Amino acid sequence: MKSDMYSRYAQQYDLAVQDNIYNALFERPNLQAMLGDIEGKKVLDLGCGPGVYADYFLRKGAESITCLDFSVEMVDIVKNKFSDRVSTYVQDLSEGLPKEAERQYDVIVCPLVIHYLKDITALFSDVYRVLKPGGSMALSTHHPFADFECSASGNYFDTELVQEEWDTVGTPVQVTFYRRPLVEITNAVTNAGLSITQISEGQVSGAIKQASPETYERLRKHPNFIFIKCQK
Ligand SMILES: C[S@@+](CC[C@H](N)C(=O)[O-])C[C@H]1O[C@@H](n2cnc3c(N)ncnc32)[C@H](O)[C@@H]1O
Repeated sequence: MKSDMYSRYAQQYDLAVQDNIYNALFERPNLQAMLGDIEGKKVLDLGCGPGVYADYFLRKGAESITCLDFSVEMVDIVKNKFSDRVSTYVQDLSEGLPKEAERQYDVIVCPLVIHYLKDITALFSDVYRVLKPGGSMALSTHHPFADFECSASGNYFDTELVQEEWDTVGTPVQVTFYRRPLVEITNAVTNAGLSITQISEGQVSGAIKQASPETYERLRKHPNFIFIKCQK
């Protein structure tokens, strides 16, 4: 699903997530802690956004990095930042990974993306196909418990479209995403043949407390994101 947040406001999004609380101090440290050693690894970044993960993988010595996103604007930002150090192309991940050959990647990352996909089964089936045996995938997404607060149906087991207004980029932007029960995510992962090896609800660091005591207290008491690692 195309969103103004990641097209019209792509540049502003890039600036905002460099050092904000939810992405820079909460999501990235928690997902990156799951990834393990990146040096010499072939990495696929799904829903790469403005390339904050690509930057991390370059610094950690990845052998190659491929970045995909539905947003032309995001892919252009990554191209401009990293040139030929990173491969990029536009891909709607709800169609899976039709351009990727099997058994290529050591590490796949998919940060804060799957809640934009109505159906996640094609993606996980292709993640299994393109991972090398023993390779792993780590993803983050909205915590199903947190998103249930936005449910119109009141039925946790429904998958439903939610619309919210976010001020991530310093101006209110309408964002739509899918909320779904946890089991829909874990079933998509395991039915694809992957084994779940770790689940985290995120450690809330002292850096967050320093940046905003209120956000620190909220994140300590209310789950916001969920982090899942799986292996082929
Ligand atoms: C919250 S941003 C996360 C960006 C990046 N992963 C990060 O953590 O900074 C979500 C990204 O998913 C992309 N996206 C949304 N729907 C998509 C789809 N169907 N296929 C591919 N990318 C999609 C958006 O364009 C956006 O760049």
